[in-house]
Amino acid sequence: MNYLIFMSVFFSAVLAEKSARLKFLVHGPPRFHFAKPENYISMYHQEGTNTLYVGGKAMVFILTFTDRGVRDLQIPVESDDTAKATCMAKAAPPKLECDNFITVVQKVNDTFVVCGTNAGSPKCWLLVNETVLTDAQGSGLIGSPSDISPPYPSQKAISLATDGGSLYSALSSVGGHTGSIRRTFGSQKLLKAENVWLLNPQFAGAAIIPSSLKYKEEIYFFFSEFNKTARVDEEPYRARIGRICTVDEGGIKPLLTDSWTTFMKARMMCGSGSTQQQYNNIRQAVVLTAQDKRAGVLYGLFSNPWGRTVICAYSIEDIDQAFSTSKLRGYSSPFTGNRPGTCVRRNSTAGGHNDIKNLGIIRYHPEIEDVIRPVGVAPLDLPTDDQITHTVADIVLAVNDEHYSVLYLGTEQGKVLKVLHTSEDAFVIAQYTLFHNEGPVQNMAIDGPKGHLYVGTAMEVQRLQLADCGRYGDTCRDCILSRDPYCGWDRARRKCVPIPTGYNITTGSLIQNLDQSNASVCGVAAAAQKQHKTSPKNVVVGSSTSVFLPCPVRSFHATYRWEMDNFMKSYPCLFSGDSCVLGPTAVDLPLKEGVFRCMATEDGVKTEVISYRLVYNAGPLAASLASTLGSSLLLAVAALWLL
Ligand SMILES: *[C@@H]1O[C@H](CO)[C@@H](O)[C@H](O)[C@H]1NC(C)=O
Ligand SMILES: *[C@@H]1O[C@H](CO)[C@@H](O)[C@H](O)[C@H]1NC(C)=O
Ligand SMILES: *[C@@H]1O[C@H](CO)[C@@H](O)[C@H](O)[C@H]1NC(C)=O
Ligand SMILES: *[C@@H]1O[C@H](CO)[C@@H](O)[C@H](O)[C@H]1NC(C)=O
Ligand SMILES: *[C@@H]1O[C@H](CO)[C@@H](O)[C@H](O)[C@H]1NC(C)=O
Ligand SMILES: *[C@@H]1O[C@H](CO)[C@@H](O)[C@H](O)[C@H]1NC(C)=O
Repeated sequence: MNYLIFMSVFFSAVLAEKSARLKFLVHGPPRFHFAKPENYISMYHQEGTNTLYVGGKAMVFILTFTDRGVRDLQIPVESDDTAKATCMAKAAPPKLECDNFITVVQKVNDTFVVCGTNAGSPKCWLLVNETVLTDAQGSGLIGSPSDISPPYPSQKAISLATDGGSLYSALSSVGGHTGSIRRTFGSQKLLKAENVWLLNPQFAGAAIIPSSLKYKEEIYFFFSEFNKTARVDEEPYRARIGRICTVDEGGIKPLLTDSWTTFMKARMMCGSGSTQQQYNNIRQAVVLTAQDKRAGVLYGLFSNPWGRTVICAYSIEDIDQAFSTSKLRGYSSPFTGNRPGTCVRRNSTAGGHNDIKNLGIIRYHPEIEDVIRPVGVAPLDLPTDDQITHTVADIVLAVNDEHYSVLYLGTEQGKVLKVLHTSEDAFVIAQYTLFHNEGPVQNMAIDGPKGHLYVGTAMEVQRLQLADCGRYGDTCRDCILSRDPYCGWDRARRKCVPIPTGYNITTGSLIQNLDQSNASVCGVAAAAQKQHKTSPKNVVVGSSTSVFLPCPVRSFHATYRWEMDNFMKSYPCLFSGDSCVLGPTAVDLPLKEGVFRCMATEDGVKTEVISYRLVYNAGPLAASLASTLGSSLLLAVAALWLL
């Protein structure tokens, strides 16, 4: 009977290098539970603060996190009665969408802009004094709310505020709505994309691409285009980057008067070389750039028609190069003067012959011919057992003075994967199980300077530490093999510690090895020290009992085996997963008396994890104990370790 239970509990995972090396269950207190499920949530977080703004159904939640808990302020924002009645009377949207879903919370300069679907008739408010919502229409700076928020929450919207005080909004295409990219708030002219530039776009994200020259600052929009008339054997999606310059002030009558004059778009590919395995639907995108530099990396989350998700990485330099040098699709004449789409300050000489000509070129030929391909040619090598639903990224300065990218991937089953991405590989540092329910991660926000990650599902919002170095264990090997760029081994204090801010690489003495799994920096002494034997736990059972000995699996990149003292013999795990279990085998039935040691081998070094001394006892007490508790007692012990 127990044998069968074992089968179903442990016979699940297989050891594979691309799986998460460590698995953690997080019970931490800083979490907020919604009173009812929030199926659409928007988030706003300003770096360096402890406050997270969450837009839900007819509610703005202002959550202030501390290490001990969450203080919440809830501001109700009901939809208008008339809008709700009109929405309910319509056939089209599902009735559940006839409410005020808060789709946009953004801080533009010092003004908080909040917009919601308002039951099919979008509306915006300004958040005043951190607590009061006032109607935004009076402010004079804001465009039409229906350009900022979609009418229904299932239509995805993107909003982005620049430090120049403008708000940019992109709405996905749904039904009769064509989709749009607009500037919707601020003192600059409010502009839009021409409808013909976008083919049923589904937006995935937007990012500011900085430049040391402020007027060369750009915004990239990421979206998929959907060809409704594609044949069944054709992939209808194409992933795209669209870009505009933030200095853009629109064209000159009669060309592009209220439209972008710097819009260009490119096709993005994500897949292995020229194989058929291409991922054409971009779902989400994040950009990591250095301050004021046009350098960095773009991570895109893509899916294929079967719903399989992957991450592709792109170089911002490559994309910038393509936009500034590629030929334009359908245009072969040479350019005169500035290249069309170049970011230039508007000045009195504008309106000359060249400008008009360039406007015409952009209007009719905004697409570049060059295709944007991922670095390393293929998607990142990541576990495939769970789909990725959301991603954020951080850039970390390591003790070797190099910058490393860390990705956080939220999954369909409510987990978060922490991934180190180097030029060599993608290494899954750990998998975090955060939530009691297994609902998908819907949204995340990251705060590099403060070292926090916010993760939201329909049920709750939780905050995690980015540098949680204590979890890795108390030896140099444990710390180094974690390959976590936020953590280093402090030789003096003999602890795995977060890299302090302002750490001086020439005087500091922390050690790390991020480029490969190799703990030789810990020295030979450390390796030898780990060879030490653990003291065996006594297991006394009746001679007729089948004994199962559990060994907790910590690193899923290590190989676990059992060894018996005084025998030149080793036993494989009978079942593995979260525990490597030694049990009766065909040859040794039942197990002989003696000392059994569980050995883990990783990075060429063998360490002892746990040991048991097995003794058979025919005495009346031991026999009854064994028959009632026997292996189930050991099972319980195993279950405790997994927590
Ligand atoms: C915001 O606070 C200021 C100063 O306390 C007050 O004068 C003002 O009336 C408040 N505004 C709103 C909309 O409550
Ligand atoms: C935002 O701040 C910038 C710079 O301080 C200023 O130029 C701009 O007019 C402000 N925008 C709004 C909408 O207040
Ligand atoms: C959509 O697909 C059809 C069928 O292959 C093709 O003829 C058409 O040109 C495509 N439309 C666009 C805008 O690519
Ligand atoms: C604007 O003026 C600068 C110098 O003042 C000049 O170099 C530039 O070409 C002008 N831009 C346009 C679009 O005419
Ligand atoms: C690091 O320490 C060295 C030696 O004390 C000093 O010369 C250097 O300026 C420090 N670097 C930084 C970035 O503080
Ligand atoms: C670890 O690194 C050391 C020093 O760089 C090297 O000698 C050793 O071969 C490496 N070990 C493995 C398993 O790669």
